[in-house]
Amino acid sequence: MDALRTEDLRLDIGGSRILDGISLSLEKGSFTALCGKNGAGKSQLLRCLKGLRKPTGGKIFLGDAEAGEKERMKRVALVFQNAEMQIVSQSVWKDVAFGPENLGLGRDEVAKRVEGALSLMGLEHKAGQRPQTLSGGELRKTAIAGVLAMKPEVLLLDEPFANLDYPSTKAVIKALVSLHREGYTLLVVSHDAEKFLAHTDTLMIMDHGVVSECGESRVLYGKLREHDIYIPAGASFEELSWLRA
Ligand SMILES: Nc1ncnc2c1ncn2[C@@H]1O[C@H](COP(=O)(O)OP(=O)(O)OP(=O)(O)O)[C@@H](O)[C@H]1O
Ligand SMILES: [Mg+2]
Repeated sequence: MDALRTEDLRLDIGGSRILDGISLSLEKGSFTALCGKNGAGKSQLLRCLKGLRKPTGGKIFLGDAEAGEKERMKRVALVFQNAEMQIVSQSVWKDVAFGPENLGLGRDEVAKRVEGALSLMGLEHKAGQRPQTLSGGELRKTAIAGVLAMKPEVLLLDEPFANLDYPSTKAVIKALVSLHREGYTLLVVSHDAEKFLAHTDTLMIMDHGVVSECGESRVLYGKLREHDIYIPAGASFEELSWLRA
């Protein structure tokens, strides 16, 4: 069963074709890595999937039914590379509560969701802390907790390891692995395949607005080099994880 599927998705901006007939599917509970060079169209694809940008053509389905922008805004979560810039509340707890409060949920349900999301991200002990005093990894995890509290059906992350040091990167990878274990459907855009690919089941490679490779990560990872995407020479699939270093 697919959590999300696209059919012949196209996006033109100012006369340029940015996405050129993308048909992809994210199986429910799968963990997909999306790699590709700068300008390949990864971030624009995520914006279309989330519902922030209306594609020029094609269809997007959630489950069995086609889902419009409004529907996807509610059911699909997107964590931006600089999501921490959007954290404005006075405490981690309040920040994570912001989303479910905006959904109009009751107090008890909001509290339940915040506690659940903080616990999944391993942030329970940070609930009362001011976000400005968090480390980079903790901030990124707070941003992820904030979208989890809205119980999205699909979680899209754009460059979740950017600007993070080694311990923070490991903390975010661990968090993603536990979300996968919980059954979340994850799509992670990243240039750093070597850091997390071993934990994914599916790999997609984008080039010039098309998905040029898609399949099992374990089978396809060697193709990354052919697309000029770095992975360490001679590394086995299992070695493509900073958790194992
Ligand atoms: N408003 C816009 N006007 C014109 N071109 C745009 C606009 N927004 C994006 N593009 C173009 O769309 C293409 C895809 O951009 P996108 O941000 O999706 O790339 P990306 O794969 O995420 O790259 P990166 O790895 O650098 O983040 C780029 O060539 C970009 O210049
Ligand atoms: Mg991008």
